[in-house]
Amino acid sequence: MSDDLRRQLWHQLEGLRSAGVQFVGKIHDLPPIPAVRAQASEQPLKAVSQAVPQIAAVQQPEPRRLELRLLADRVSKCSRCPELASTRTQTVFGVGPLDPELCFLGEAPGADEDRQGQPFVGAAGQLLDRIIVAMGMKREEVYICNILRCRPPANRQPKPDESKNCREYLDAQLDLVRPRFICTLGATAAQNLLGTTIGVGKLRGTFRDYRGIPVLCTYHPASLLPSRSPEKKKDVWEDMKLLLAKMGKPIPVVGKKAEG
Ligand code: URA
Repeated sequence: MSDDLRRQLWHQLEGLRSAGVQFVGKIHDLPPIPAVRAQASEQPLKAVSQAVPQIAAVQQPEPRRLELRLLADRVSKCSRCPELASTRTQTVFGVGPLDPELCFLGEAPGADEDRQGQPFVGAAGQLLDRIIVAMGMKREEVYICNILRCRPPANRQPKPDESKNCREYLDAQLDLVRPRFICTLGATAAQNLLGTTIGVGKLRGTFRDYRGIPVLCTYHPASLLPSRSPEKKKDVWEDMKLLLAKMGKPIPVVGKKAEG
């Protein structure tokens, strides 16, 4: 753990202590984050709750935020997928608030995301931003992450082993973030999250389940770009209306703009 992160964690814990929180372990009680290990000795991440047991049991956002930072720090040193670890600029963990109404789940970082360390900041991200605005929401209100936390070289599809290696991080991340709804973007996200080979065309239109969280599958924004299948924008908007209705939110008329 970097000195900077250690200092920030210390301040967060001190803040909690002065606010009267008694049951969060002191920083020196936390087990050390394992240093980067060779692939051969990389142990599967059992569960974050096992890594930081005192904090995981706590429901309040602050300890979960802290645990999420520890997880992100661990992910940043991950070497489970040698090719990805040796070609990435940095890992792209995810962004957004705890306890969001909605989490968008994509496939993997692209070149822009790899450079900036943030998910969905390239061309597909700009389209996703427009979809979010059309839904009457703000990007800062939703959580955004991917099946993979590293960019696959030349934006190739994630390999099954890579998705498997990253799955424990995803599950732990979603356990900590606790979104009320999940919207998967594209086939890779839907199939990996739900453990199915059914195509998005068939998955969309009905709510699925991930650990008790309703999941709606839709097309990936990259597939809506002018060079691909922009005619699918109307299908995505139909999906978003379904999602908004299930979330109990109004369906903005201005949302129609996303179809243009
Ligand atoms: N495509 C994705 O699936 N995720 C990103 O973060 C960017 C593009």
